[in-house]
Amino acid sequence: MIIDSHAHLDDSAFNEDREELIEKLKDQGISHVMNISAGLASARTSLALAKKYDFIYTSMGVHPCETGELTEENFTEIISYLTEEKVKAIGEIGLDYYWNEPERELQQYWFRRQLQLAHEYNLPVIIHSRDAAADTYRIMKEERAADLKGVIHCYSYTKETARDYLQWNYYFGIGGVITFQNAKKLKEAVEYIPLENILLETDSPYLSPVPYRGKRNSPLNLPFVAEEIAKIKGISAQEVIKVTTENTKKLYGL
Ligand code: NI
Repeated sequence: MIIDSHAHLDDSAFNEDREELIEKLKDQGISHVMNISAGLASARTSLALAKKYDFIYTSMGVHPCETGELTEENFTEIISYLTEEKVKAIGEIGLDYYWNEPERELQQYWFRRQLQLAHEYNLPVIIHSRDAAADTYRIMKEERAADLKGVIHCYSYTKETARDYLQWNYYFGIGGVITFQNAKKLKEAVEYIPLENILLETDSPYLSPVPYRGKRNSPLNLPFVAEEIAKIKGISAQEVIKVTTENTKKLYGL
């Protein structure tokens, strides 16, 4: 049993063969998929997918890169889905300073609003943070994120930053990037982070692990991620899969 804690199976990259692929997942040992929404359009498509398949769940949230088009009206619609049975988290939300847009103040405003929503609805948070380590931590601290449960998705910072989130007992989403040869900093962080705080994720269709780097990703590639974490920690891939599966169930209440 293996769980993909972060996928986007409603992405158009799967339009040709989505049903076929999803049917295959259970036979290949994928017991649950957490499908992540990133804005109003994907909130609708992700929820529809979760309603169609019993082993697929979803989050609700607006990705920092999509805050430019966000309106109060759209936001109200997203909030209206939070009480749906298959909705298990707020996300992905956060800050992305890799691009120059949307402007940082706007990203920060919506990040705060959605952290407040997580408190209000008592839901865990899925954090997207790219080139924005200091502001992400500062805003989360100011919004009392230590009182929430959550995961730093596609973790890309140092082990020193990991220590801060470990004090809040947060989880760290580890995916295909860990198999890349140049991922030295991430390998160090994964060596440092206890297995009890790690979740396996794909971010499908993005970030395929070696040997499929550059190709479309899917939950079927998770064993390559588990193998690499096992190698770093000097334990078996089976142990990695067992513990991360428990972690993911605990975080999302599956
Ligand atoms: Ni994602």
